[in-house]
Amino acid sequence: CGIVGYIGHREAYPIIIKGLKRLEYRGYDSAGIALYDGTDIKLSKTKGKVADLEKRLEKEISTTGTLGIGHTRWATHGVPNDVNSHPHYSNSGDLVIIHNGIIENYESLKKELIKRGYTFKSDTDTEVLVNLIEDVKKNENTKLGKAVQIALNQVVGAYAIAVFDKNKPNEIVVARLGSPLAIGIGEDEFFIASDASPFIEYTKNAIYLEDEEMAIVRRHKGIKIRKIKDDSLVAPYIQELQLNLEQIEKGGYEHFMLKEIYEQPSAILDTFRGRLLSNEAIIKMVGVEDNMKKFLNANRIIIVACGTSWHAGLVAEYIFEDLARIPVEVEYASEFRYRNPIINENDVVIAISQSGETADTLAAIKLAKSKGAFVFGVCNVVGSSIARETHAGAYTHAGPEIGVASTKAFTTQITVLTLIALRLARAKGTISSSDYRMHLLELELIPEKVKTALESDAYVKTVAAIYKDAKNFLYLGRGYNFPVALEGALKLKEISYIHAEGYPAAEMKHGPIALIDENMPIVVIATKKGHYEKVVSNIQEIKSRSGKIIGIVTVGDEQVKNLADHVIEVPETIESLTPLLTTIPLQLLSYHIALMLGKNVDQPRNLAKAVTVE
Ligand code: G6P
Repeated sequence: CGIVGYIGHREAYPIIIKGLKRLEYRGYDSAGIALYDGTDIKLSKTKGKVADLEKRLEKEISTTGTLGIGHTRWATHGVPNDVNSHPHYSNSGDLVIIHNGIIENYESLKKELIKRGYTFKSDTDTEVLVNLIEDVKKNENTKLGKAVQIALNQVVGAYAIAVFDKNKPNEIVVARLGSPLAIGIGEDEFFIASDASPFIEYTKNAIYLEDEEMAIVRRHKGIKIRKIKDDSLVAPYIQELQLNLEQIEKGGYEHFMLKEIYEQPSAILDTFRGRLLSNEAIIKMVGVEDNMKKFLNANRIIIVACGTSWHAGLVAEYIFEDLARIPVEVEYASEFRYRNPIINENDVVIAISQSGETADTLAAIKLAKSKGAFVFGVCNVVGSSIARETHAGAYTHAGPEIGVASTKAFTTQITVLTLIALRLARAKGTISSSDYRMHLLELELIPEKVKTALESDAYVKTVAAIYKDAKNFLYLGRGYNFPVALEGALKLKEISYIHAEGYPAAEMKHGPIALIDENMPIVVIATKKGHYEKVVSNIQEIKSRSGKIIGIVTVGDEQVKNLADHVIEVPETIESLTPLLTTIPLQLLSYHIALMLGKNVDQPRNLAKAVTVE
């Protein structure tokens, strides 16, 4: 979920609506807003997107006022409908709250409150929290801030909340545990949001609350931050934001996803800018250099991640083992954290996360740290929870990724991990100096080659038109390109809702081959470097079952061209870097198919960009 709040001298409504739209990557099942108009709270909420809220709002309520909070939801408790949407009132109607996260003990709290005469309109845990705050406030006869604090000390779970009281319309109380919360500081005005994007055009100064901190944000008076547990005061640490408005706008592209696909040449360049100096044969990454001993003494590397980031981890497994000869295990963070894993201080854990906020990945990190492992983060969002929770790390520097389907985050994650693997290989002496130099030179050519790969766009579109109505897709690859096959299938599933499976090409005969008939499109990654002949045999197997073959091939390829129904060419590179190129046409293919099917490319149904619940 995404939350936004404003208190200051401007109209709150346009700031909150615009802010919510920027946070829709965090969920878009329903949206709502509560404004204080000078005398009362005006509240409106609806199932659907922020645009739906906007449509209905102006008819429903007055939108004036300089204090307000808004929410865009990704449902956890209760189906996405109007009633379950946020904000939620307390029973008296005095308090109003927005919440991102889950209150795990909400049922027992709810029972208690019901005994005390409280009633509930929604199925949400959030409505329980706001009434708990109200109950504390009444019983203890305290101010809102204190009541929030006492209530939160009874709560088990995760939250970022913002709450205000209509009888005290000069303050908003916010708190965080496990879900991010930023406070933008303007001139006599304050902005509250899940990340800094809603207020970037108003101020570059922000405070990021830490876990278990709360803040009372007062008009004309400023901010007071306290620890929720022991009430101690915390000195605010104001950061200067690096983000700019242009980075979070579409810049002429029809969709964020397309923009982000096309940004990959420059994003990859930004990833190795200042880190890769091929003429001096140097890779410089502070987080790696400072912890070289840990890496070199590691018995193994465990990579934890979710979704697309997990796929980047799988690619990294090949690179680390191949070049640096360090054993690697790649784990879904959600599985790792719950299966009593064997880890100790000789393990290095690499956590990969675009958003840096994925709840399962964050929990896996905490677990690994508690067992003494060294944890290194590969994140895109600067200052995110995972970036702060890890011992050290390297940012991908891809810039904001807004499209829910991850594209440039994936290729830049692979780039960072490749740099690390090469640096470690050099330090360990598992790569010859000539091979090492060759890798650096090839890596430096990748942004140009990605640009060339993007030139297939028009042709990919024609292929998309042919197969857009298929019910199933199969994606096959071997070695470094097996994870790319998984990622290609995921992209298609996510945004077009067509069922797709990624498989190691050779495994096909152990199951998926049964699915193949003349209606089945099969995308086969068959670049020259990397088990080419073996993949060609797999293509023969498909052909004899009349499957439709879309080959992703190295430029100039003849053999696959003769067998396949379509071939999409990518430039030649060394095997370990092929994923950075073969991914491109697969991103474009899913984009075009989804678009032709009339799907919402940037905000596919049921998904969220940052999954801050486990
Ligand atoms: C969600 C997103 C995916 C992403 C995954 C992991 O499912 O929709 O695109 O790959 O979370 O997110 P992270 O931010 O940790 O990389």
